[in-house]
Amino acid sequence: MSKQKTCKVCFAVSECFPYVKTGGLGDVAGSLPKALTEEGCEVRIFLPLYGGIKVIDHGISRYEEVAGAEINIGGNVHSFGLWHSKLPGSEADVYFVDCPHYFHRDHPYTNDPDEDERFIFFQIAIMESLQRMNWAPDVIHCNDWQTALIPAMIKTSYSWDRMFDKTATLLSIHNIGYQGMFSSESVAKAGLPVEYYAPYMPFEHNGTFCFMKAGIVYSEIVSAVSPTYAHEIQTSELGAGLEGVLQTRSNDIYGVLNGIDENIWNPKHDAFIPHKYSAAQLKGKEKNRAALLEEAELPAMADSALIGIVSRFAPQKGFELLPPVINEIMQLPVQFVVLGSGDSQTEDFFKGLKSSYPGRVNVYIGYNNKLSHYITAGSDMFLMPSHYEPCGLNQMYSLRYGTVPIVRKTGGLADTVRDYHEYDQKGNGFSFNDYTPQALYSTVARALDIFRDKKVWKKIQKRGMKEDFSWKHSADMYIELYNKAIQKRS
Ligand code: ADP
Ligand code: GLC
Repeated sequence: MSKQKTCKVCFAVSECFPYVKTGGLGDVAGSLPKALTEEGCEVRIFLPLYGGIKVIDHGISRYEEVAGAEINIGGNVHSFGLWHSKLPGSEADVYFVDCPHYFHRDHPYTNDPDEDERFIFFQIAIMESLQRMNWAPDVIHCNDWQTALIPAMIKTSYSWDRMFDKTATLLSIHNIGYQGMFSSESVAKAGLPVEYYAPYMPFEHNGTFCFMKAGIVYSEIVSAVSPTYAHEIQTSELGAGLEGVLQTRSNDIYGVLNGIDENIWNPKHDAFIPHKYSAAQLKGKEKNRAALLEEAELPAMADSALIGIVSRFAPQKGFELLPPVINEIMQLPVQFVVLGSGDSQTEDFFKGLKSSYPGRVNVYIGYNNKLSHYITAGSDMFLMPSHYEPCGLNQMYSLRYGTVPIVRKTGGLADTVRDYHEYDQKGNGFSFNDYTPQALYSTVARALDIFRDKKVWKKIQKRGMKEDFSWKHSADMYIELYNKAIQKRS
């Protein structure tokens, strides 16, 4: 593999662990740049300085070289400054765009009427910062709609600046279900050429200005976060209306599976779990299980399997499959520990389940990082019946922790979980194809059946724990894609 070790990468992203995280994108932004740096890249991450980010706790300080720069968005002028830190455990630099007017809100993502302006501001602030730093990256790695306008900016509104002549862009699609669709007025607010807002033109999609479409059209390379998802987004079933645009770029679309941060998600030294363990020494897992049951105030039930769920509650996650078969599932020897939040229907369903089955189910509504580690370590099985799943990190965390995943075979779940069959002894989990409650039920029943055979179960667990989900391989693939992008730009 030919590598350009000196690649300068600007990593533009709307969330990054440990500063701010709402889902897997935060995990990826907090770990891929580390791996890229270890492979020799110079990486600068750009992130909004949301009100919730505690600068003192994270050792973030003012970056005096860029301060008081003004940006005019549709007549609204606001200034920004930069703050800086090093990504913990890494040489990667993190620059925080500070503009309280736009970024001090209750949540990183809002339904506020100026949501378009917030992320237009962020992206222009990145471009202005790069100029002021006099740092021309070889590639700008954009992530999802919140940073998907940068490729268009490079080629239109900032094309006058020779500094970016050789800067290539790569857009990673983490979830095509969120596209950043706004009214046509946003085109001018973004400083982009309004004449490109028309049917079949780069900015228009179904009567809206679609940030994601602009990114797909203008970036040199498009990546999706798993090989299967790279195919799926080009189909009408899972392309969320952008499949046609994606098909026009099919030669430039690649699937790169996310990795996991082995320093954070590793049962050998996970600070959030009471008992450390490994594939060679699974006893600690049993102890975590007992501790989790106690924490969840669930009695230990002989021969019962503990199924964990940690998830955003969004239609994508497939929990609508549960209600039609939940009473049948509860006839089986199972207990559930659930952590999640999101749509009220799913929250209400799980709350109702807890009151219908006391001693069998506990449910935590909310976001709790420590508990997510605890559930991953203490459960026997982990359930992800997703309707679609671009990559999914929780099934990889579960595999790493000897917690056997039960998943629907879609996207990254299809690429990481191999269904167990008695005849080939290769499976590391259980999966089903059909998006139906019945398929979910029979797969849970099948897993519970195998669970009774402790010897076989241990083998399945160990196979999962030995999988290599480290970032190195995927970071190398990104570097290869960066080089492809750079070549296309020159
Ligand atoms: P998505 O990004 O679609 O939500 P992923 O599986 O890629 O799905 O990543 C989800 C990440 O968010 C994981 O790190 C998971 O542990 C975390 N997570 C999801 N819900 C919660 C929650 N309620 N509390 C703590 N962590 C959560
Ligand atoms: C998105 C997807 C999830 C993926 C994550 C990180 O949030 O829903 O499947 O793992 O991004 O790429």
